[in-house]
Amino acid sequence: MKSSFLLTTAASTALAQFCEHQWEGRFAGRRADDIHARQDVPPPPLEIQPLIVNGPSNNRIDLIFLGDGYTEDEKDKFFADAMALAMNVTDGQTFADVVPLMNFWAGFSPSAESGVGVGGNPLDTVYGLYRDGTELRGVYYDKPEVAHAACQSTEACDYPILLGNDPLYGGLGGTFTVVTASPVNGPAILRHELGHSIIDVGEEYEGGYAYFGVNSAESPESVPWKQWYTDPGSEPKIERTNMPIQAYPWTLLNTTQKWSQNFSSAGTYDTYLLQFSVSGMTASSDLRVEVDGADVGWEINTELGVDRYIYNMKIDSKLSPGEHELSFTLLNEEIQGTAQLCNLEVLEYGIAEEEFDFELTYHGLYPTFSDTNSTSYRPTNNLCAMRSIYSPQYCNACLEGLWLALLKPLSLIDSVTQTALPDGSTKASLDLLPLAQFREIPIPHQEAYTILWYGANNNVTLKRWTNHTSAVFAPGVTEFGVEVRFSSEQIRVDEEGVLVQRERYAVT
Ligand SMILES: *[C@@H]1O[C@H](CO)[C@@H](O)[C@H](O)[C@H]1NC(C)=O
Ligand SMILES: *[C@@H]1O[C@H](CO)[C@@H](O)[C@H](O)[C@H]1NC(C)=O
Ligand SMILES: *[C@@H]1O[C@H](CO)[C@@H](O)[C@H](O)[C@H]1NC(C)=O
Ligand SMILES: *[C@@H]1O[C@H](CO)[C@@H](O)[C@H](O)[C@H]1NC(C)=O
Ligand SMILES: *[C@@H]1O[C@H](CO)[C@@H](O)[C@H](O)[C@H]1NC(C)=O
Ligand SMILES: *[C@@H]1O[C@H](CO)[C@@H](O)[C@H](O)[C@H]1NC(C)=O
Repeated sequence: MKSSFLLTTAASTALAQFCEHQWEGRFAGRRADDIHARQDVPPPPLEIQPLIVNGPSNNRIDLIFLGDGYTEDEKDKFFADAMALAMNVTDGQTFADVVPLMNFWAGFSPSAESGVGVGGNPLDTVYGLYRDGTELRGVYYDKPEVAHAACQSTEACDYPILLGNDPLYGGLGGTFTVVTASPVNGPAILRHELGHSIIDVGEEYEGGYAYFGVNSAESPESVPWKQWYTDPGSEPKIERTNMPIQAYPWTLLNTTQKWSQNFSSAGTYDTYLLQFSVSGMTASSDLRVEVDGADVGWEINTELGVDRYIYNMKIDSKLSPGEHELSFTLLNEEIQGTAQLCNLEVLEYGIAEEEFDFELTYHGLYPTFSDTNSTSYRPTNNLCAMRSIYSPQYCNACLEGLWLALLKPLSLIDSVTQTALPDGSTKASLDLLPLAQFREIPIPHQEAYTILWYGANNNVTLKRWTNHTSAVFAPGVTEFGVEVRFSSEQIRVDEEGVLVQRERYAVT
């Protein structure tokens, strides 16, 4: 089944996936034919270890971490870093419900040098990962042909993930997902980028330029997640919000002069959110963030240290009509040269509940503003990892999309075994994907299989065997059929019929 997946994905996925705030360029876009294209370079020696394995590679979606910038001495660290990432995105969150459809692997190749390059210069590593400057933003790869060859050299490479041996924020979406071993940002970037590549959706955050897929609507008339509206009885209101300023300065801050920009408000909103990301900070006393000269009380997330972090400060007062000033003042001279302001935005909200629903899981119509301030709509306010980089969850629309994307290339039936019984009859037994009652780790969501068996006549079900994973056929029966249906309360619409499978088999 999976070879058809590769062909259909190759044919349909040429769309660019520009991510985490303007990384992209020639690396954007995931194409399965790219991944499997023949390469002239030999693959690096890959030592592959299973991380989380739930079934045979020919009927699972295989994700593999390929280590870069880990020396021979750091092999254990690589396997530990990869395991930490795989556990984080599957243990009780993000992919927890769908993980029986997936395998996670780690492929080690020793690099001559340790770490990732900076200033546009890769180190002597297997895939040549590097940052453009020193800023904590994109991490690019210099040797795509080696990554291709590595991926081709194993069966277990549907989604290759290049894992850079670096403790700080950075990554990339596209043919090869790139992440780092940053303890907080690594898992966040991984689930966001895998959302792009597996579900085939664009962004949900402001200031991007790729908005498409099951979580995005160009207008309230073309919403693909109507089945997930929290109030299905009525058309949801458009949540009232506005984005008066949005920017990606990626600028180093200095103590001589504050960084500031003015913006204007209509003064007709109730509250607002100040979002910004900074890196290189060491203490809350390093930076003062002000709106109209008033300190907003920024405090450092001490778990991050100097790593980049995206701060969200909800301010429970309104912006008055007219001009406002947003400023960032560096107070600690010692971190000049590394302290950086990455991105910022202000969002204004209408009156809570009446005009804007802040309920985390409320699914309705939320406007999202692009880099050119054009409006599209998303399902939830801040629930989804495609918007809130530190959210460990997808919204219901993305989760349904994830189920369908993972199931599509797979067979609900792992295998069928036939056994001859002493009386000449034949017993057929099914192994199904380990979902519903076959899960090893139960989940708090309803799921079920329906199993129907057919004899020679394919339109009469053999009622006696309904919902049994095996059936017995009398001597002389030469063929039989089976229909397996999977249902989950996390899937409400299945246009392509991936939840039903019908097969006929000859008695052997
Ligand atoms: C995943 O990583 C985040 C950030 O380091 C951490 O806060 C969270 O507890 C981890 N979750 C799991 C399930 O490992
Ligand atoms: C976006 O458009 C809205 C509505 O015209 C306007 O109020 C807002 O200031 C604009 N924001 C930016 C960042 O241009
Ligand atoms: C200090 O920062 C300000 C604001 O970002 C900038 O305009 C100025 O050029 C910087 N000065 C130096 C010496 O880098
Ligand atoms: C920005 O706004 C502040 C406060 O309203 C004002 O003093 C300043 O002159 C403005 N700056 C610019 C460049 O317009
Ligand atoms: C078979 O299982 C499905 C799913 O649980 C259920 O809806 C159906 O009623 C069952 N059929 C029989 C005959 O037990
Ligand atoms: C299906 O059942 C109908 C009525 O019971 C019968 O006429 C028809 O021939 C059957 N079709 C097949 C393919 O056995």
